[in-house]
Amino acid sequence: MALEKQVSIPAPLVNWLRAAERVVVMTGAGVSAESGVPTFRDAQTGLWSRYRPEELATPEAFGRDPRLVWDWYRWRRDLVQKAEPNAAHHALVQMETHVHQMTLVTQNVDGLHRRAGSRSVIELHGSLERARCQGCGQRAQEWPETDEELPRCSLCGDLLRPDVVWFGEALPRAAIEQAAAAALGCDLFLVVGTSGVVEPAALLPYLAKDQGAVLAVVNPEETPQSEVADFFLPGRAGDVLPVLIQQAWPQA
Ligand code: OAD
Repeated sequence: MALEKQVSIPAPLVNWLRAAERVVVMTGAGVSAESGVPTFRDAQTGLWSRYRPEELATPEAFGRDPRLVWDWYRWRRDLVQKAEPNAAHHALVQMETHVHQMTLVTQNVDGLHRRAGSRSVIELHGSLERARCQGCGQRAQEWPETDEELPRCSLCGDLLRPDVVWFGEALPRAAIEQAAAAALGCDLFLVVGTSGVVEPAALLPYLAKDQGAVLAVVNPEETPQSEVADFFLPGRAGDVLPVLIQQAWPQA
């Protein structure tokens, strides 16, 4: 009850959600903020404060200094492994049990949606939990991490790199095609915790809206999408989403 007093959800949105056959939820770093994973545009702390992500998450940075880039990803993976899914991740698991067809599209590479139990997750920007060979493309779920040797491909011996999308790189084709198809076919598109400026992910809400879907945005700050959305729910994902689910399916 206390939560519901703080968060106000427009009744028409609750009705749309309840009635929707196909829902797409797109998340960004903000959904993991309450798990203690810093968002991309937050200042980095500690050891890494003198680098900007844009200087580390590029093919050029890896070409120049693969050790530096691997050390950064090792630090990020450690941080994510210690983190736990939060109330927002859990609310989206709940939503999946109620909606006829729900597609969760995430720009996050932290794997927290899957760890929370979401099943239909499209990871647009890859995953920290995988590496892939920069030469032959072979993927690896495990690799040795030592300070001495960089991880190498077990097939061809070339360097492994994190299996994530870096600045200036194309998104995995199957992932963006599936996400676009889901956006084009949905009744309701919910955008949660993303600054909405990195394309092509940032274009998906417009695709959905242009073909008639209801667009809703959850974010403590305004974003380009919140300005055109049918509903803007200002607030933290972990506060807003549980109330939205509770109001849509009170018996559950
Ligand atoms: P950003 O760091 O750009 O934006 C995080 C968003 O989350 C901001 O709009 C915040 O206002 C919002 N936010 C912060 N705390 C929140 C909370 N508790 N609940 C809800 N929202 C909150 O992260 P992304 O939008 O995910 O791409 O960034 C998109 C992409 O840009 C990343 O995937 C990454 C980066 O370049 C690649 O690495 C290819």
